Amino acid sequence: MNSKVESWKSKLDEVCESLKGSTSIDLTKMNELESQIMDVSNFMLSNEENLNPEALKKEQLKFRTYTDDIFMNSHLYKRARTWPRGYAGDYETLEKIYHATPVKNEGVGMYLDNYFITRELARGVRERKRVLSKVLISEFEKREKKQKVLNIACGSSREIFDIGKKMNNYEADFTFLDYDKDAVNYSRLLLFNEGIDVRNFKFMKYNALNLVSETETEAEFGKKDIIYSAGLFDYIKTDVLIKMISSLYNLLEDGGVLIAPFKDKENYNTFDYHYLVDWSYFYQRTIDEVKDILVEATNTEVEIINTKSPAINFFLIRKK
Ligand SMILES: C[S@@+](CC[C@H](N)C(=O)[O-])C[C@H]1O[C@@H](n2cnc3c(N)ncnc32)[C@H](O)[C@@H]1O
Repeated sequence: MNSKVESWKSKLDEVCESLKGSTSIDLTKMNELESQIMDVSNFMLSNEENLNPEALKKEQLKFRTYTDDIFMNSHLYKRARTWPRGYAGDYETLEKIYHATPVKNEGVGMYLDNYFITRELARGVRERKRVLSKVLISEFEKREKKQKVLNIACGSSREIFDIGKKMNNYEADFTFLDYDKDAVNYSRLLLFNEGIDVRNFKFMKYNALNLVSETETEAEFGKKDIIYSAGLFDYIKTDVLIKMISSLYNLLEDGGVLIAPFKDKENYNTFDYHYLVDWSYFYQRTIDEVKDILVEATNTEVEIINTKSPAINFFLIRKK
């Protein structure tokens, strides 16, 4: 291992030693840990220019292996390094991020969990959920009852849980899709337990990549008034994404809306996701790049809503 990284790691070991046995977070110690972890970020990122994609992946893996003895103490780092559901960003991980407190209740693991849930994107994901609930309520309030809604890659559907029993006033005809069967079942249970009437809600295990086909998508789902997806579009490569958005735009009734939050690559640190964990499969896009994709796919205006987190913005496309 490079000597700069070795020296960084021995300082990190010292900081972590001082955290052993803690049962609550001391904010001064938390800041010390955060500064020490971040201290190697610029160095790792600056080396990227000299590496081809394969060599870069190897470097990132080597970094993780070298730091496993520290980071595997954390529930969330362990999860995001080992992918127990077969991929990063599964609904169980998202649920822990929404919970916004460490999963481990002592020592280094607790501190590292806290570091994980306070990264820009973790904060952004919580803000995305808040804004999504608000945007959905605003759409439901100004529309007739019985809107046809499609939630793609629903995960736990926390934004609907947060709206709570008020959902019942809207009598929505709701379809929830996710390719993880456990996620859709979890969603249904969560909403049912909250007193939301799920009798008119469909929960389907479905691969969203099939949505690229306009004719198949319309045959399968019929027209929709509100279509949204949080946390999937960032993972889809541009040519496929253009087809998918175009197909979803076609699926909208006149007056319908497509709600699509995207990450903004200028406002999060890739070191957190490419080195500290293996969560690098989302595409790095700017606001303008996302807008260009959406305009190319729909040939219509795109409204952008900035959230209180710069890491994630909302893009709304209305069918006139
Ligand atoms: C980052 S989570 C977001 C979940 C939820 N929308 C939220 O905001 O909490 C991404 C979700 O996408 C699902 N997913 C990933 N690829 C998918 C695909 N090709 N088709 C359907 N769902 C997919 C995962 O199972 C996971 O539940």
